[in-house]
Amino acid sequence: MLVSVILTLILISIFNTSNEVHSLNILGVFPYQGKSHFYVFEPYLKELARRGHNLTVISYFPQKEPLKNYHDISLAGKSIIFEGIVPFQKQSLLTNMLTSLGVSYVAIDNCNIMMDDEEVQDLWKRKMKFDVAVVEQFNGDCALGLAHILNTPVVGLTSHLLMPYHYDRYGISYNPSYIPFLLLDGSTKSTLMQRLSHTISHIYMKLIYQYLTQRYEYKIISKYVDNIPSLEELGRNIKFLLLYNNMMLTGSNILPANVIEVGGYHVSKPQPLRDDLLKFIEESEHGVIYVSFGSMLRTATMPKDKMQAILDALAELPQRVVWKWEAKSLPGKPKNIFISKWLPQNDLLAHPNVVAFYSHCGMLGTTEALYHGVPLVGMPMFADQFRNAAAMEESGFGVTVKLENLTKDNLLEKFKMVLDPKFRENVKLLSKAWHDRPKSAMDTAIHWTEFAAKYPTLTFRSPAADVPLYQYLCLDIIFILSTIPITIIYIVVVLYKTYFKSKSKQKSNEKKDKNM
Ligand SMILES: *[C@@H]1O[C@H](CO)[C@@H](O)[C@H](O)[C@H]1NC(C)=O
Repeated sequence: MLVSVILTLILISIFNTSNEVHSLNILGVFPYQGKSHFYVFEPYLKELARRGHNLTVISYFPQKEPLKNYHDISLAGKSIIFEGIVPFQKQSLLTNMLTSLGVSYVAIDNCNIMMDDEEVQDLWKRKMKFDVAVVEQFNGDCALGLAHILNTPVVGLTSHLLMPYHYDRYGISYNPSYIPFLLLDGSTKSTLMQRLSHTISHIYMKLIYQYLTQRYEYKIISKYVDNIPSLEELGRNIKFLLLYNNMMLTGSNILPANVIEVGGYHVSKPQPLRDDLLKFIEESEHGVIYVSFGSMLRTATMPKDKMQAILDALAELPQRVVWKWEAKSLPGKPKNIFISKWLPQNDLLAHPNVVAFYSHCGMLGTTEALYHGVPLVGMPMFADQFRNAAAMEESGFGVTVKLENLTKDNLLEKFKMVLDPKFRENVKLLSKAWHDRPKSAMDTAIHWTEFAAKYPTLTFRSPAADVPLYQYLCLDIIFILSTIPITIIYIVVVLYKTYFKSKSKQKSNEKKDKNM
């Protein structure tokens, strides 16, 4: 009797441990105050807590209501939150270069604020133990320094595609002939001029990162702890990068085994719409176009003539329009437009009557549109919106229009293209394929996070990250291979020449002989 009870207990414990991950102590490090970034990470962090892991999250966005297993170390109030700060203006190589400097400045500031925080310092003073740290990979590597101090394996997260300085550390091949630049216009089939400016920007941003961002962050971290390895080296030890992308958006990429595409995990189950909005949408005869330029752009800075062109185009369409508009009123607002300062974007896009989305192509909105199969008219304005817009157009999710070329007529034409039933049908098909994965984006993200904690000694960095540059570019091979034929040609030429010389000597000798 007793034996069988013990046997059963042993069996239960074996089956229990075989596949289960015990509650992990997870540290989230998000020293950057961009709200749109945290909107992506938050559902993942909450889901980790919901699944029983113990979360400690450093960020500017503490939970408003206490959440089980979720502990905030709040940096709120220590820096301004970025919202509605970007004006509508044309971006160029130059503005992009200035923005990169700004982003570096912000990273250094972020690092100072985080390392100076007493609650953060308590983590190492009290020798807290974590199984894994999940850290944002965006504008800096301060979080890696902190994770190193706490001796914790790291999983990186992005809310966008790869930044230029992230290719090397994961050993991802960067080739501007077909890889577009995240922050500039251009698809996988860029023009020569585009490829040239992509290459210059890529190198420039890497230099800024190495010589400004990482250098100053290193100095800041060194104020608190001695002898940390270089931040780039710590970057190379990241276990997994959970990249906010999906092949349906950007097509095939060459990614190492430890860079995992998890685009889409932030999209939650749609909630019912509020009454006035629902009524407006349900009573539309020809469907609804949703317009939003996100949280960062200041709609009021839109040039007047462009604004008029948009209003005229929308007024001419039979569809109704729901527009996220920050100002109180919209002068000259056509009858078919519903404006509101805040709109539940995901719930709106989920409504079957919403037939198109006029968007700046931020990663959140673009992802939600793909998720619900709503075609996009993209008008990218800054940051990664150019890349997102080019990718979604290339993949058939929508079309793009540039602010500088925008007129009433070409905007109408773009809307006609995406409202065409054939186009919409294809977007629905692409959206279906987007959902068709062996594991949901959330399950995938959580799986590899738990994996990193379970096997902290395993790293799957691509060997490309460890190879010296000349070898990576095969310069040594090219050198040797090109020397062999050059040497052979040289020898042949020399032999030929000496042969001819001796021949002509012989001839001239013969001549001399004859003349004599
Ligand atoms: C969970 O995290 C909190 C604070 O971040 C810590 O105080 C607590 O001890 C942790 N709980 C467990 C069970 O490790």
